[in-house]
Amino acid sequence: MTAQGFDDIGACVFDAYGTLFDVDAAARHCRSELGDKWQPLAETWRLKQLQYTWLRSVMGRHVDFWRVTGDALDYAMDSLGLDDDALRDRLMDLYLALDAYPEAKGVLAQLKSAGMKTAILSNGAPDMLEAAVSNADIAGLLDAVLSVEEVGVFKPHPSVYRMGEDRLGLPAGRMSFQSSNAWDAAAASAFGYHVIWVNRFGQARERIPDPPHAEIETLEELPGIVGAG
Ligand code: LAC
Repeated sequence: MTAQGFDDIGACVFDAYGTLFDVDAAARHCRSELGDKWQPLAETWRLKQLQYTWLRSVMGRHVDFWRVTGDALDYAMDSLGLDDDALRDRLMDLYLALDAYPEAKGVLAQLKSAGMKTAILSNGAPDMLEAAVSNADIAGLLDAVLSVEEVGVFKPHPSVYRMGEDRLGLPAGRMSFQSSNAWDAAAASAFGYHVIWVNRFGQARERIPDPPHAEIETLEELPGIVGAG
């Protein structure tokens, strides 16, 4: 049984950070150095990282996601009064080896064995994505790992979502796009994908157009929705 509208899906396309990979893991692994600052650091780091992608896209000042991630970490450390180059290096190294969410690998395997194409479509720079995919041991379960570096602009620019169609050879209407980032989900929905918002953190609904078609708590519910259960 598929969910309504998800009955002709040929590919599942995933956002990377926050959806397959745990963006808080780097700061969490430095809990002993950061103490009770680890959570505010993780939150500010992520928030600034996303803000900088949006600002740079609108300003026409693209640099890759590695640079943006470093700039955001510098802001976050500065805002918390942390001045420690070794800690900064360690956090950036850990960002290359973020833990995958526990269900991610099993779900990808289930989709593949049901004959579904799978891909990542992410802001991440190619080297960052390659490191995360290899660390999670999921390379063999993905047909494509697509980075915005191919189009030189960050999400939510439509050219990013078009890359999914071009590289997977399917119209957006035959693909399910999964993101834990509600703004990314909205942009993919506006482009024409069938969209599932992975609301892992019980966040409030965004007040922007083009809502997702389905909402789940973890990826475990995905195969059932797209008929790969
Ligand atoms: C990505 C960010 C948005 O992976 O999480 O594209």
